[in-house]
This record gives sequence, C-alpha cells and structure tokens, in this order.
Amino acid sequence: MAANLKGRSFLKLLDFTPGEIADLLTLSATLKANKRAGVKGMAMEGRNVALIFEKASTRTRCAFVTACFDEGAHPEYLGKGDIQFGKKETVADTARVLGRMFDGIQFRGYSQDVVETLAKYAGVPVWNGLTDDWHPTQVLADLLTVQEEFGSLRGRSLAYVGDGRNNMANELLVGCAKMGMHVRVVAPKSLFPKPALVEVVRDIAAGTHGAVTITDDIAEGVAGADALYTDVWASMGEEAKIPERIAVLKPYKITRQMFQQTGNAQAIFLHCLPAFHNHDTDMARQFPDICEVENEVFEGAQSRVFDEAENRVHTIKAVMVATIGR
Ligand code: CP
Ligand code: NVA
Repeated sequence: MAANLKGRSFLKLLDFTPGEIADLLTLSATLKANKRAGVKGMAMEGRNVALIFEKASTRTRCAFVTACFDEGAHPEYLGKGDIQFGKKETVADTARVLGRMFDGIQFRGYSQDVVETLAKYAGVPVWNGLTDDWHPTQVLADLLTVQEEFGSLRGRSLAYVGDGRNNMANELLVGCAKMGMHVRVVAPKSLFPKPALVEVVRDIAAGTHGAVTITDDIAEGVAGADALYTDVWASMGEEAKIPERIAVLKPYKITRQMFQQTGNAQAIFLHCLPAFHNHDTDMARQFPDICEVENEVFEGAQSRVFDEAENRVHTIKAVMVATIGR
C-alpha cells in the first residue's frame, strides 16, 4: 500500500486521489486473494469498530462485520433506536463518546452532514456506509469488479441507467471519472445529476483522460459501454415517490435489447443490490411495475452482481485496514 491513509476518514471518493483509490483497490485484491487462500489476517487485532445504522442494510452491515472478524477486530452493531444518537444526544457528543471507545466508526443514514459531523468530532476514522448523497464503499467494490473483469479501469466505459441523481449515480460519476473511465448517466431529464456535480466531475475527467456523458437518449448513452449499471428507482426514504418514478423510469429498465444496443458482446451487468428483477418480494408484489432490470439480464451470463456483492467485503476490509490497521 503506497498511500498512507492511516487515521483518515472515508466519507466520499471526492476526498481521495486517483492514486489513493488505486492503492485501496490493490489492497482489496490482496486481501481477497489471502482470504481465498485461507490466509488469516490480524491487521486489526484488538481494534473495536462501531457500526451505526439509521437505514436497513444486508451487504454493508455483513461486509463490515465479516471483514472485522477476518482481521481480528470486534464489531458492535448500533441500530436505529439502540442509541441516543440524534434524539437525546447531539451527533457531536455521540461522536466524542464513541471516539473514546472505538477505533473506527461506520455510519449509514440519511444526511451527509451527519457523517461529516461524526468525522469532525470522533477523533477516529469514520466510514460512510451510505447516505442520501454518496455510497463510497459500494463504488470501490464496483471498481474492483470492473478491474477484475477487464484487467484495468482506464478507458473503460460504464453507463449508469436510471435515477441519475441518487447516491449511486453521484458516487459512480466521481469514482469512474477519477479512474480515467468514460462514465455516462442515462436518465430522464427530470432525474439528471445536479449541474454543480457534473461540473466537478467534468473537471476531474479532464485531468484523468476520462470522459463524462449525461443524456436521456438510451441508444447514445449505452453505445460501446463495457458495463451497464442500474439501481432501484426509489432509494431508501423515497418510498412515497415510487409511482412517479415508475412512470418516468420504465423506459430505462435494463433489458436484453439494451445490451444489444451497446454493440459490445463483452459488456457486463452491475447493480449495487438490492434489486427488483422479478416479483418475488413484498414491495414488488405491491408495485408490479417496479423492475429496473429484466430477470433474464439479472440472471444472465453477463451479470456480475454477486461478484460485486462479494467484493463489498474485500473493499470494506481494505478501507478499514488502510485507515486503522496495524
Ligand atoms: N449495496 C448495498 O449497500 O446493500 P445494502 O443496502 O444491503 O447494504
Ligand atoms: N440508492 C439506493 C442504494 C442502496 C444500496 C438507496 O439509497 O436505497
């Protein structure tokens, strides 16, 4: 690991240089190979890690927990309602208390301001496990998955198709641009990313030989893409918007035909998960038209979604080892 990230928080990829991100990916690949080979790590022996969750989670929670155990750390899950956080005690006070007891703190919740405040006051590294604005640990796993598939990131193109202004779209724009990729957001105009962010990302891409395309034209947006990526049409906390999102995003559902439109037989499918791809969940039964990806694509040969999910643990482990490891 060339970059020294000891003591740093991991709040959004915007805060990291391309070299630091590349180093985290290299460390992730090493930790993955070690785990596969049965080599036990002890880089976080004796460390205590707090995991604060205001929103539900399967992958992020389980990746933090298993990554801690793999490297000798103790994880403590603090769910919504378990602690005084934000109700009876300020975020700054909770941060200072947890910072005296734990070596690192993961936060998943709504406001980016909260995770930034935690990091400001805790005195130990804080890791963002998803806010309304960003999802940096997910995009690290996505980049690792693309790198494993194609051997490198630079010059590869990823088209994110769907809700272009959510945490995943924002973080993919930044992460892919930082790594010199051609990142496209393909969305209806009403869900285009914020212009200020697009400006920032275009500046980043100008310095990395990357490129940025924002379009509502599916054929233009997916042509030549190496990866098609999508996410749910309504994120956690936006459940009331499901009907309007279905109406506007239905044409942007990822289908076999859309894969043909890439003109790239090697193109892969990515999704951060959880995904609506059939009607076997309670929410999908309630909203039969909610389906951002055709089941045939999700289950098809080009799908890498479960590699991507597994990579959450290796990349999250790398972030913790790099920032609080011995
Ligand atoms: N992709 C992701 O963050 O999944 P969870 O919401 O299950 O953690
Ligand atoms: N955009 C989604 C991502 C889930 C991992 C959400 O915030 O619900």
